Amino acid sequence: MNRIHVFHGVNLHLLGQREPDIYGRITLDEVNGRLIETGQTHGFTVECRQTNYEGELVDWITKLTPSDFLILNPGAWTHTSYALYDAIKGVSVPALEVHLSNIYARESFRSHSVIAGACVGQISGLGTDSYFLALAYALEFQKYRQKERNSNHEAGKDSPETGRE
Ligand code: DQA
Repeated sequence: MNRIHVFHGVNLHLLGQREPDIYGRITLDEVNGRLIETGQTHGFTVECRQTNYEGELVDWITKLTPSDFLILNPGAWTHTSYALYDAIKGVSVPALEVHLSNIYARESFRSHSVIAGACVGQISGLGTDSYFLALAYALEFQKYRQKERNSNHEAGKDSPETGRE
């Protein structure tokens, strides 16, 4: 089963109370609950985690495999962390960068993402809909891969060593 992970970085645990004019009033638990529920209705497990420790996020990312899908809002690490860029590249996991606020319409330091080049795309500025649209994409992406794997399996094209792609 191809998995979908949602990793939230630094300060996102404050969602709901932090600068509500920018980030809204919905809490991280509420966002995660809706993401998990939506995944379930499509037959996928969505695993959500948040950390304020950059090294911990690097550890989580580098335990992923290319068959996983990552939805990532790194918070302020978006603008600084070459370590996250290298981690995503290092495990070749398809990653979609997500931001609640429009990072191009705020302070100038926010308008550069150092991880964007390691990601398949970016959704920025749609509030919590940024996450839900990212999940819609991730679900389609993973469903397509599963279909491909099933048809390869039926055609006997599995890898001889592992029986997998
Ligand atoms: C953010 C944007 C970042 O610039 C900021 O540091 C955050 C949240 C967003 O979701 O809009 O913590 O990633």
